[in-house]
Formats: sequence, C-alpha cells, structure tokens
Amino acid sequence: MEKIVILTGAGISAESGLGTFRDEGGLWAQHRIEDVATPEGFVRDPALVHRFYNARRVQAAKAQPNAAHEALARLQRDWPGEVVIVTQNVDSLHEAGGAQDVIHMHGTLAGALCAACDHRWTAPPEMSVGEPCPACAAATARPDVVWFGEMPYQMDAIYNHLAGARLFAAIGTSGQVYPAAAFVHEAAMSGARTVELNLDPSTGASSFDDVVLGPATETVPRWVDQMLISQ
Ligand code: OAD
Repeated sequence: MEKIVILTGAGISAESGLGTFRDEGGLWAQHRIEDVATPEGFVRDPALVHRFYNARRVQAAKAQPNAAHEALARLQRDWPGEVVIVTQNVDSLHEAGGAQDVIHMHGTLAGALCAACDHRWTAPPEMSVGEPCPACAAATARPDVVWFGEMPYQMDAIYNHLAGARLFAAIGTSGQVYPAAAFVHEAAMSGARTVELNLDPSTGASSFDDVVLGPATETVPRWVDQMLISQ
C-alpha cells in the first residue's frame, strides 16, 4: 500500500504552548542563532547554550500533545501503508501523542551527547558545563540536538523514504532551513503528490501541489479524516 512521508516543524507544537522560531516574538527574535545553535557558540559560552536548552527542556516536559500530533498517530495506526514521520522538532510530542518510530532529524532535548566520543545518554532535566560523559569521562556533554553547520541525523533513511513516497506532507514548517526545505522537491521528483499544511503559506508554498491553511489542530485532524475516508 502507498507510503506517506510527513515532515513536521515547530508549528505543529505551537498550540501545545511551545514557541516557534521565526514567528513574531519567536525564539530567534529572542536569541542569536550563532550564540545558542552553533558548535562555535557552544565552544565560546557553553553555560549560555545549556541555559537555553535547559529552559526549552523544562518547557517541553510540561507540554501536552495536541490534536494534530494525535491525528498523525491515528493516521499511522489506521493507514494501510507505511506512514513515516520526520520531525525537525526536538520535543517528544509526536511520541507522547502515540506516534511510532519518529525520525528526529534535528535531534532531541531528551538526549545528551558526548562531543568527544559520540556516546549518547538520557539528558537530565538540567545539563551543566563540565558534566562528565558516562562512557569516556570527558567533560564535553552537550544537548543531542543538531546545530547550524552540522549534518542532520538519518539523512540516508529519510531520502530513501522520500524516494518511495506516494504522498509527502509538510506541516507547520516555514521552509527556510535546508535540507528539510528541499524534501518537497525530492518527493515530487519521485512522483509523490505534495501537500503543505501551515498557518500561513511557507517560503516554498508554490512548490506544493496543494496548500491547506489554518491552525494545525484544525487542519491536520480534518486532513487525516479525509485521507482515511479516501483510502
Ligand atoms: P519556524 O519557526 O521557522 O516556522 C514555523 C511555521 O509554523 C511557520 O511557517 C508558521 O506559520 C507555522 N505555524 C505557526 N503556528 C502554527 C499553527 N498553530 N499551526 C500550523 N502552523 C503554524 O519553525 P521550523 O520551520 O520548524 O533548527 O524551523 C526549522 C528549523 O529552524 C528548526 O528545526 C530549528 C530552527 O532554526 C535548528 O535549530 C537546527
């Protein structure tokens, strides 16, 4: 049966109370990307970077999945083919909403990563500078999130999924960050139909076959209902 690949961004978690990056008053209006989301920023001021991600981790832990996360989990359960969810989000709301095997291409706040030996472990609620790696004892623990200038995770698997997709949907993402912003082209080249569900048209909205505008908690459950009726 037909494979669906779904890319999600910060907009899907907005109605769970987690701020987006580029909307008015978003995270990138409050913080400089080069300070908190680059490897160079972490070398310069690791305490600042930990403070930024610690605050986001605490906030994400309190957030509840919304109707959009739950609808995608329902699509995964009830669609007769494979439904692959790729997210740029570092929260765990897809999983909390019941989704399986979510690909976190930008990493996750729940993880810690040793910058020296690449060992991974569950992050404590508050990470601090000098925390030793449980494997090699180096004091180089960092959040297991992908920063600008770093390669997103699981790209081979994602491109394989896109090559086999019959439908590609991008939900709640502004389409300004690559490589995710180019997934619509990859999918279209493989013959997939493409749909964007977003509050406002994204930068690349004209690249999609269909665009559905509105808040994710309304558009996504409705779209999932339509998909399941039309199968
Ligand atoms: P952005 O903040 O760039 O975009 C969020 C999108 O969600 C915008 O297009 C909004 O219109 C839309 N949106 C807001 N509220 C919504 C709602 N209730 N329902 C539906 N859509 C809504 O976030 P991303 O596109 O996810 O990367 O950003 C991509 C990457 O840039 C992030 O993963 C992060 C960031 O820098 C790294 O930090 C590496």
